Amino acid sequence: MKCLFDTHCHLYDERYDEFKDELIKEIEASDIKYLVDIGTDIYTCKKVVEDTKKYSFCYGTVGYYPGDTGKLTDEILSEVFDMYKGNEKIVAIGEIGLDTHDPENYPELDVQKKWLRAQLSMARELNAPICIHSRDADNETFQILKEEVLGKTPVLLHCFSGSKELAAEYVKLGAMISLGGPVTFKNARHSQEVAASVPLEKLLIETDAPYLTPVPFRGEINKPNYVEYTARKIAELRNISYEELANATLENACRFYRIKNEK
Ligand code: NI
Repeated sequence: MKCLFDTHCHLYDERYDEFKDELIKEIEASDIKYLVDIGTDIYTCKKVVEDTKKYSFCYGTVGYYPGDTGKLTDEILSEVFDMYKGNEKIVAIGEIGLDTHDPENYPELDVQKKWLRAQLSMARELNAPICIHSRDADNETFQILKEEVLGKTPVLLHCFSGSKELAAEYVKLGAMISLGGPVTFKNARHSQEVAASVPLEKLLIETDAPYLTPVPFRGEINKPNYVEYTARKIAELRNISYEELANATLENACRFYRIKNEK
């Protein structure tokens, strides 16, 4: 049954180059109905646009990942946003956000904040849905989103890793919460509490493939079709069937990304 929507993956990743045809067949044979290929800089955004032309199940986003904002300029950013305008298969701006996990290798937080605000205000002007990446920056991200976009334009928190209380705050302000492979990990108490407590109509699922591989494939390269394992785990945590969870998150994702769910 075609009932799964992977709301966040990186299908263009070069780790797939060696077996891309095989991977596409695997996705087509799986329960995946749609997926969203997420851009992180001008190079990957161009690859996203290519993928969306090649594969009917593939939609995409364009934006600048916080780790890549170091050399960003206004010119490059407007070129990236031009890929969103007028392209029906580019459905959101992202992934954009803040990340303080690896300060040695990431631009300074002030630089990240400047480009996050710039992209949020451009997305708001376009009334574009926004995919947010936030790692080890819960409070800073929440503050900026509250000031700039929450309640004004659709926002998705990708691979949400905060507490269930923070998830509830976001939901109150209209945001969607997306969960990935970590919810299947044994020690993922936070993610599992979020999975069980977020209202079903606010919940999304994703892989972030090739990263964050769910159990039972942890340690291997992640693939979009593995979103099924995340769906099964969340269904179990919520005490509902896999089909109910899959169909609800599919509907939610289509609503968020404004994609017509073809019957
Ligand atoms: Ni990602």
